[in-house]
Amino acid sequence: MVRHGVANVMLNHQYELLDFGRNEKLECIGGVVVRRETPSAPGGKTASLVWEQSQLRGRVVGEKYIWDGTAPADWRFDAGDFELQLKATPSGQVGVFPEQSANWDWIKQCPTDLAGLKAINLFGYTGATTLSLAKRGAQVVHVDAAKSVVSWARANALSSGLADSPIRWMVEDALTFVRRELKRGNRYDIIVADPPSFGRGPKGERWKLQRDLIHLIESLSALSQGRCKMVLLSCHTPGIDHGQLRREVENQFQFESGTGSSFALELCTRDNKSLPSGNCFRWVADKS
Ligand SMILES: C[S@@+](CC[C@H](N)C(=O)[O-])C[C@H]1O[C@@H](n2cnc3c(N)ncnc32)[C@H](O)[C@@H]1O
Repeated sequence: MVRHGVANVMLNHQYELLDFGRNEKLECIGGVVVRRETPSAPGGKTASLVWEQSQLRGRVVGEKYIWDGTAPADWRFDAGDFELQLKATPSGQVGVFPEQSANWDWIKQCPTDLAGLKAINLFGYTGATTLSLAKRGAQVVHVDAAKSVVSWARANALSSGLADSPIRWMVEDALTFVRRELKRGNRYDIIVADPPSFGRGPKGERWKLQRDLIHLIESLSALSQGRCKMVLLSCHTPGIDHGQLRREVENQFQFESGTGSSFALELCTRDNKSLPSGNCFRWVADKS
C-alpha cells in the first residue's frame, strides 16, 4: 500500500521523530532536540535515555504552556525550497508542522504548471504551504487570524528569497474572508486549507470545525467553480477521518478530469512507530 502521508524529512536532517508516548513527543527539529507534551501522542515510550537529553522541554503547567531550556537565537528549519524561522511559542508550537512536508513535496512535484495561477491558503500559519506554492510561481493569498503569525510568515518569505513573490498577507477570519471574496467576484484556481478544531478570527469570530467545515467547503467550491486546478485540505480533528473529508469535498466540488486521494498524515520514527498526525484530501487537475 502506498503511504502518501508519511513525512520523511529525515533525509535533509531537519526533522526526526525520535520517540513518542505518554502524551509526549521527542523530536529533533532543525538540529534541536525538543521534548514536548502533546495530547495526541498515545502509547509507551521506547528510547528512555534520549528523553533526558532534550535541549528544550515544553509542558503544560496549570493553564499555561511552559518551555524549559533555551532555543538557539537563529533556529531554522531548512525545507530545501524555503526556510522557516523557529521559536518556542506559548501555544506549544515551534513554527513548523513537519507532517505537512508530504504536501510540500506533492506541490513541488505536481506536473501541472502552477505559474500565474491564483491560490488561497487558509489558516496558513507561518507560511510553509504558501511558500511551496510561491516557489512554483503561483500568486498566493495567505490568510490567518493571528497578526503575529502572518508577520512571521512574511519574515519566512523574506529569508527564503521569496520577498518579491506575488503573495498577499491577510490577517482575517478565514470563513468571513472567503465569503467576502465570493461577493467581490474574486475566484481561485488553487484551494488550500488546514483548519484547526477550534479557532478565533481577529474580531473574535468563532471557528468550530465540526460545525463550520461543511460551510467552508461549500464556499470554497463556489470560489473555484469552473477553474479549479488543485485542492489540498487537511485537518487534525479527532472523529474526522480522511474518507469523510474526501466525501465532503467531492459532494460539493464538481471536479473535472484529475486525480484525487485521501490519506492519514503520519510521522514515523526510524523503527517505524507511527504517530497519527491528521488527515488529508488532495486533488489535482490533469495536465492540460
Ligand atoms: C494548524 S495551524 C495551520 C498550520 C499550517 N497549515 C502549516 O502547515 O504551517 C492553524 C492556524 O489557524 C489559524 N486560525 C485559527 N482560527 C482562525 C480563523 N478563524 N481564521 C483564520 N485563521 C485562523 C491559527 O492562527 C493558526 O495559525
